[in-house]
Amino acid sequence: MTKSTSLLLATVVAFGMMATTASADIKKGQKAYLKTCKSCHGNGTKGAAMHTQAEWEELFANSGESIIKKHAGTKAEAFFSGSTFGNTSQDLRDFLFEYGNDSGNVPSCG
Ligand code: HEC
Repeated sequence: MTKSTSLLLATVVAFGMMATTASADIKKGQKAYLKTCKSCHGNGTKGAAMHTQAEWEELFANSGESIIKKHAGTKAEAFFSGSTFGNTSQDLRDFLFEYGNDSGNVPSCG
């Protein structure tokens, strides 16, 4: 394989990976939900059904200001005010929004 062929291949692979990551946010959010929220709010179906899509948007607006406030004084306060929430909030939002109780969608495994 010549050098330029492998460079081209590497570029194609890199673009492919970017595309997968972009559409995998809901899956990532589901994983994050199961890891961090399930213990208190039940499985993903139940969790996402707590709110409508519009409500999830509101809860996660301004970097999740509202959902952070909801957890002030709970055992989850440290998580919501920490950097882990900041890093995963977008994925969580995508997952919860996708399956909000007025979305008509149900996660395949919860
Ligand atoms: C340590 C337990 C705990 C964890 C972990 C936790 N929560 Fe909560 N959550 C609560 C409590 C307690 C409340 C406030 C009482 C209530 O409304 O149920 C709450 C409230 C909420 C509300 C508002 C409910 C309402 O009626 O408006 C949402 C939405 C929510 N949590 C989502 C999440 C999400 C998403 C996660 C994971 C990122 C999470 N919670 C993690 C305990 C937890």
